[in-house]
Amino acid sequence: MNIYLIGFMGVGKSTVAKELSKKIDYKLIDTDIEIETREGRSISDMFESEGEEYFRGLERELIRELSSEDNLIVSCGGGIIKSDENIKLMKKSGNVILLEASPEIIYSRVKDDESRPLLADNPGIDGIKKLMKEREEAYNKAYTHKVDASKPPVQIVNDIITVTLTLRDEFVNIN
Ligand code: S3P
Repeated sequence: MNIYLIGFMGVGKSTVAKELSKKIDYKLIDTDIEIETREGRSISDMFESEGEEYFRGLERELIRELSSEDNLIVSCGGGIIKSDENIKLMKKSGNVILLEASPEIIYSRVKDDESRPLLADNPGIDGIKKLMKEREEAYNKAYTHKVDASKPPVQIVNDIITVTLTLRDEFVNIN
């Protein structure tokens, strides 16, 4: 079983994933970093030269690969749920934890960050609300458990450990 962290940009997936990897002996993969490393360039660069679909293709390839592995913590790019195939593969191969926070909290975390092409023209709180609304259904379809990401990372990590270990026990019992 893997642990996938999903949620909107700026919700804190990467930070939580790092903290979680200090507590449990799983290998940490951040899909954005993995894709940038393999391509040797930034996500903004990929969006600019090849377009968003090119990047989404790389995300799908990566999820196909990771879903056949075990004991990974996968911190996912916010748009990973735009693909039904990704949702199916993640749910089949692990626990999918949705980190949730309000548009206001997210805005305060992303407003000065220029690394995200979808937020490059500063959409403001209203723009974030709109994109969240568009993605709400897909996030809800994808998660197996959700956690309140407005809490401090240490508490979020404890919540995730509690739920994944419980689920793991259930998984072992059923199988
Ligand atoms: C995206 C989120 C980003 C990154 C890319 C697109 C999205 O990851 O994958 O800029 O569509 O929500 P983070 O959620 O880690 O910022």
